[in-house]
Amino acid sequence: MTDLPRLPFERANLLELSPAFAVLRKEEPVTRVRTSTGDEAWLVTGYEQARKIFADERFGRSHPTPETAPRLSNSSLLGGPQGEHATEKAAHDRMRRLLAPAFSARRMQALAGRVQQLVDDLLDEMEEHGPPADLHELLSVPLPIQVICELLGVPYEDRDRFRAIADDMGDLRDLRRSAAAREEMQVYTHGIVTAKRSDPGEDVYSDLAAADLPSHEVATLAGGLLFAGHETTMNQIDYGVLLLLSNPGQFEALKRDPNLTDAAVEEIMRMGASSEHGLIRYAHEDVEVDGVTIKAGELVVLATVAANRDERVYPDPERFDVTRESTDPHLGFGYAIRFCLGASLARVELRAVFGALPRRFPALRPTVPLDRLEQRPDQLTGGLMALPVTW
Ligand code: HEM
Repeated sequence: MTDLPRLPFERANLLELSPAFAVLRKEEPVTRVRTSTGDEAWLVTGYEQARKIFADERFGRSHPTPETAPRLSNSSLLGGPQGEHATEKAAHDRMRRLLAPAFSARRMQALAGRVQQLVDDLLDEMEEHGPPADLHELLSVPLPIQVICELLGVPYEDRDRFRAIADDMGDLRDLRRSAAAREEMQVYTHGIVTAKRSDPGEDVYSDLAAADLPSHEVATLAGGLLFAGHETTMNQIDYGVLLLLSNPGQFEALKRDPNLTDAAVEEIMRMGASSEHGLIRYAHEDVEVDGVTIKAGELVVLATVAANRDERVYPDPERFDVTRESTDPHLGFGYAIRFCLGASLARVELRAVFGALPRRFPALRPTVPLDRLEQRPDQLTGGLMALPVTW
């Protein structure tokens, strides 16, 4: 068991990646590793290689024998196979067809004014609270929850309940706990969808209620949307603030020129790595990638955080630069057929935050050094317990 590099790698601090990623990316961008569950996998750290696999439909999220399939972790969400092997493509196409219109860039752009209002209100509250304050609890947590509640049609009053369930869902160590929480989330959200049948609103859960889908698929989608819709955005707000405050010159540049906001958000998405967990795929047939043969049934771990710092694509990749110009999209929202459905929504939220924050809090700075920030332990999406700031 000592033969292969073992995941997860040791990380030195919150903003830098484990050094092992850079070494592997340079020497062997598709390489054999052992995962935290003791299984063997292919770890992909190169940008081009990751993009190829994302775009290759011979790789999927399902496995013909899920019980014995190699796993990345004990997360019930992203640790192992998902969905029925025989029907994966059809179910995925159905999901995208059903949900894509509700999350389209145009629909999300129409929400931008409302999102900006929510951001402005939260920043007003932070100002009233006065320094020092916990930016995590006052901004990063409530914003994505308010937005996703309105969009899906979930009662905001339930937030403590579903936040607790989401925490358990993201547990990386205990598969039983994570799976039970996932089930609980599905029962909770399915209940809301069912109620929308007799009392529909202008929201995504009402669309789900009206759709001709088997009940278990509705539950999976509803639960998945509520989790995906807030956890990740919350972490990217925290990490964006951390990256800007750790690079004061970049914070200054954004303050001086709000037109840099969109580029800053993409740079935050490229570098903000709250988790090194990675995305998974299973080869559905033998596929050759970069000179190695990945055999049918084998596990592939796409380390998008490492690919996003590939020097072959991003010059001086460890530098956080809000003026960076790149023609190659970062992989922070994935790529190709499973490209994040909520990317436009997340971008609207992040642009509202990072457009307003430097202007409203020009003297913003952290009150504790980076290495004293407390992390959420054993969480799939990683992230912080708190982000204490002053101004
Ligand atoms: C900054 C915030 C976000 C990040 C970093 C993020 C990241 C990602 C990534 C990397 C994937 C690809 C997974 C894969 O290829 O296996 C993905 C897929 C997905 N995301 Fe997001 N996401 C964010 C926000 C959201 C939001 C707000 C929603 C809204 C509900 C959402 C819903 C989804 C869904 C439904 C998928 C599955 C797409 C599919 O399988 O076709 N995400 N996300």
